[in-house]
Amino acid sequence: MSTPPPYLPGHGLLSGRSALVTAAAGAGIGGATARRLLEEGARVVVSDAHARRLKESAAELADAYGADRVAALPCDVTDEAQVTALFDLVQERHGRLDIVVNNAGLGGTADLVDMTDEQWEKVLDVTLNGTFRCTRAALRRMKADGGAAG
Ligand SMILES: NC(=O)c1ccc[n+]([C@@H]2O[C@H](COP(=O)([O-])OP(=O)(O)OC[C@H]3O[C@@H](n4cnc5c(N)ncnc54)[C@H](O)[C@@H]3O)[C@@H](O)[C@H]2O)c1
Repeated sequence: MSTPPPYLPGHGLLSGRSALVTAAAGAGIGGATARRLLEEGARVVVSDAHARRLKESAAELADAYGADRVAALPCDVTDEAQVTALFDLVQERHGRLDIVVNNAGLGGTADLVDMTDEQWEKVLDVTLNGTFRCTRAALRRMKADGGAAG
């Protein structure tokens, strides 16, 4: 069995950039992405639908990388008002937005053959519509800053 490559330290590649990561509470891909963004020098807003786990994760990140570089707000990406509040926080805390990681998504809670329409609609609302909502909010901010095409 081959050994994994060594973990590389940050190179400051995102120094001064402002990033937002959805579904970033805990030990999953979102949490790891937020950590790497911070290692590369970015300021990061983390969010998740699970408020308690988000608070714990954000506190760990703030301890490791500095409270001035980490902010957090619970956000269920299926709720437009919560998405708007999240992007408002990025603006308020970091003044601009450079990077959005649309990590929130569900694979479904049942095998396809057993899945109800309701369960499938939930998959789509988090994974597809949630990504749309956050991307739309991001582009509006980026365009206002003169930073996004289209
Ligand atoms: N882990 C994998 O092998 C894998 C493979 C393919 C795709 N993905 C996708 O990558 C992403 C992260 O996967 P993971 O394994 O790290 O997930 P995870 O299960 O570790 O974490 C998912 C997080 O999403 C949050 N969440 C759920 N619904 C939400 C909502 N409506 N709004 C905001 N947050 C919500 C949960 O609270 C949780 O913290 C997901 O979109 C997943 O579908 C993962």
